[in-house]
Amino acid sequence: METKAIRGFNDVLPDEIGKWQFVEKTAREVFEGFGFSEIRIPILEKTELFTRGIGEATDIVEKEMYTFTDRSGNSLTLRPEATASMARAYLEHQMYAFDPVAKLYCMGPMFRYERPQKGRYRQFNQIDAEVFGVGNPMVDAEVIIMLIHFLEGVGMGNLELQLNSLGCRECRPRYREELKKFFAGKSAQLCEDCQRRLQTNPLRIFDCKVETCKEAIADAPRVIDFICPECQKHFDQVKEYLAMAGLTYVLNPRMVRGLDYYTRTAFEVVSYSLGAQNAVTGGGRYDNLFQEIGGLDIPGIGFAIGVERLISLLPKEKEFIQVPHLFVAALGEEGYREAYKLVNQLHLQGIRAELDYEGKSLKSQMRRADKLKVRYTLILGENELRQGRVVLRNMEDKSQEEVPIDGLSLLLRSKLLGH
Ligand code: HAM
Repeated sequence: METKAIRGFNDVLPDEIGKWQFVEKTAREVFEGFGFSEIRIPILEKTELFTRGIGEATDIVEKEMYTFTDRSGNSLTLRPEATASMARAYLEHQMYAFDPVAKLYCMGPMFRYERPQKGRYRQFNQIDAEVFGVGNPMVDAEVIIMLIHFLEGVGMGNLELQLNSLGCRECRPRYREELKKFFAGKSAQLCEDCQRRLQTNPLRIFDCKVETCKEAIADAPRVIDFICPECQKHFDQVKEYLAMAGLTYVLNPRMVRGLDYYTRTAFEVVSYSLGAQNAVTGGGRYDNLFQEIGGLDIPGIGFAIGVERLISLLPKEKEFIQVPHLFVAALGEEGYREAYKLVNQLHLQGIRAELDYEGKSLKSQMRRADKLKVRYTLILGENELRQGRVVLRNMEDKSQEEVPIDGLSLLLRSKLLGH
């Protein structure tokens, strides 16, 4: 067999994991500081949840889902996103009965059968945050503020927050009709998919990447010019709350997002260092999703961050790579016995100590210590041990000192962990 992962599915190797853990830890700290709780949802759901939630005529549902029939004949789908599953969990567990307002976050892999390229994978990870149960524009601004605070917290710069309003159940039908009229006049220019979208869901023509369709889209009517006074008021308030928090944004009337559930506020954070797949985050309000998936009339808003894209923007600093704190080199049988005892003690105190298991020469142990990039090596020689002492070598400046074994772990803790 070929020892290779499936196309579009990636390993995250130990020398990259530091960035992942840093990003995930920062997300937890920031989100929990804003009153969000973690929720863990299954990776598989009934297909219907996504066809109804995301929308039949979207690219995700039409072309990108990993759907299969299980042994009992049920149609199941690997989750392509988390919002619909989180909404399902909120309804299923009647979380609204405790408090109608739920602030939830989750993180993990999503699956979409897209054409893999840089920044676009078939298994990718999202960090997702949602607020269920509040229609107030204050919350729209709050989740955006949290998102930007998080992105700044992981050291992101050079990002642009883009905003749009997609209207609601009241005003969208009029816009839809306008779009239909407009694109019908350009029908010869539209690809086969868009000809179909024109009948089923003309808004989705905006997602098309075909050149001639993109040209047709350029002069299409803008949803923002058709929104009702209620939606306009909502949008104005979101902008006002963002301005109050000192956040800057640009309006992008062409941004319609690729999922059908959005209403009113839609936003993306893009990075111009990312190239074609430049959206680090997408999100927005979805006041009809809950009803679509068979539930109550509950408003919601949230976002999902693409972790691979975010991580590709982080600086390649070495502090993300986890190296052992210390290498323990041993000589002779007694030296090895002491090294074994010591390393186990140090592990219990949170000191990442590494030792040689194969009775190699001191020279070869020192070479390994160098390769592991440890700051210190402890050398346990039989003579020194007999005198109750060991040698501590600073690998950066190559200085050495003899230190007593008594009180060694205290000394190492202060040198290596700073306490
Ligand atoms: P989305 O825009 O489809 O929205 O995805 C959000 C983010 O996931 C994107 O901005 C991108 O960074 C990342 N992403 C999407 N597809 C891929 C891929 N194939 N490879 C790598 N990264 C990818 C949603 O999923 C919504 N559920 C967001 C949301 C939450 N809206 C409201 N709440």
